[in-house]
Amino acid sequence: MVDTETFVPDAVAEIEDEIGDANAVIALSGGVDSSTAAALAYEAIGTQLTAVYVDTGLMRKGETDEIRETFDYMDSLRIVEAQDRFLEALEGVTDPEEKRHIIGEQFIREFETVAKEVDADYLVQGTIYPDRIESEGTIKSHHNVGGLPEVVDFEGIVEPMRDLYKDEVREVARALDLEEVVSERMPFPGPGLAVRIIGEITEEKLEVAREANHVVEEELEEYEPWQALAAVIGKATGVKGDNRVHGWVVSVRSVESRDGMTARAQEIDWDTLQRIQSRITGSHENVARVVYDVTHKPPATIEYE
Ligand code: XMP
Repeated sequence: MVDTETFVPDAVAEIEDEIGDANAVIALSGGVDSSTAAALAYEAIGTQLTAVYVDTGLMRKGETDEIRETFDYMDSLRIVEAQDRFLEALEGVTDPEEKRHIIGEQFIREFETVAKEVDADYLVQGTIYPDRIESEGTIKSHHNVGGLPEVVDFEGIVEPMRDLYKDEVREVARALDLEEVVSERMPFPGPGLAVRIIGEITEEKLEVAREANHVVEEELEEYEPWQALAAVIGKATGVKGDNRVHGWVVSVRSVESRDGMTARAQEIDWDTLQRIQSRITGSHENVARVVYDVTHKPPATIEYE
């Protein structure tokens, strides 16, 4: 376990030391890692740091507002409204790797624009220890902001949490008084809801996925899952009112894990599952069915794409 009383001042001093009087940027994703790194860096260099949050339109329900509130104290927070550009770039794309690639590219483009504008020489990243291990042997291309250093020409990259595990990052987040919605938040993939929608990403599927993920996070909180999620996996027949509909199938998944490398599907009681089913089918006229995924990792991955 990390001793936050020494870790926080040491990390702040290291950041100050490395960056000096220069400007730096960090990409905020809404997750605990980048949020904690941003809070540390802001403490070190204040408004020399620009925190960039790109709203891709693939975020969780309410996430952009939470970011705005949590980082309200940072004068140099930039929220980039890029939803339309992401949706347009993803139109008609069904291949999972191509989707990831497009999202990664578009993200870099948005981020680079701000980095140039503010004349940033340094990139701060919330990379943690398991990220470094996993990127040595990737199973699928992980868009974090992993591609940024190669594309944008920075003088240096600062990774204050490179030796920490996730639970240690949460401790640091708590020590920094970050809001609980941030410090206790489940991991969320960089490409966002895109990896929880099989096939083309449309506004309707996004609406269904966003609401369903919200329901699942709320209902399964007490199970303390590593991740709980919902994915739009296809279409099937259902009956709504007096009509047959060919509607969306939403798969619900909740797993326990230590580091995301392997995972166990959680056993959830029937009443909770039924409540989830009822809330999700009721959330949108075109949801026909809700299923629960009982597969461990391996053989399944945690996400659907
Ligand atoms: P899988 O689906 O590979 O996920 O079992 C393992 C962990 O990684 C997260 N994940 C991603 N994170 N970019 C990310 O930043 C991605 O493309 C991505 N794909 C999966 C996933 O949510 C889980 O925590």
